[in-house]
Amino acid sequence: MKRRDFVKGIVLASGIVGITPFIPAGKFLVTTFSFKYVRQKIANVNDIPPNNRLLFTYPKTGDIEQDSDPFRKFLLIRLPNGEFKAYSAVCLHLWCIIDYKPDKVDIECPCHGSTYNAQTGVAFKGPASKQFNKTLPEVKLEIDDNGDIYANGVIGVIGYGREGA
Ligand code: FES
Repeated sequence: MKRRDFVKGIVLASGIVGITPFIPAGKFLVTTFSFKYVRQKIANVNDIPPNNRLLFTYPKTGDIEQDSDPFRKFLLIRLPNGEFKAYSAVCLHLWCIIDYKPDKVDIECPCHGSTYNAQTGVAFKGPASKQFNKTLPEVKLEIDDNGDIYANGVIGVIGYGREGA
């Protein structure tokens, strides 16, 4: 049995699907379940105008190599109505990095066209929308009186998803 198939077998057995050439599967198994999502300042409301987004690292360690891990990358989105949302930047299909598109007010994957609702994080188009888990992991956000935005936990599993529509 090839190593890749072995890893895929482990992942399938655990209910996790979506092994991909874009991010090594071993990395998923090692890192995703070891992150500690402590409260972390990620931006101020003045850093991001409505209908825009910011890519941030969470949890951030200060180590360049660790912080470059795609599984630590999240999109902080300020919707046109001013509301803030934050999702994992890892596509649920084959783990490419997704991005917010202000002109369409959605989140799109450049690899195979999966498209996510920016309000809910639910995939509604492309291969991710046909998966059992089609809702992006979401960051719990807090905004203090100074307008500082904090990440304080993640709902779901990076690269796998969370319960949703
Ligand atoms: S990796 Fe295939 S649609 Fe995102």
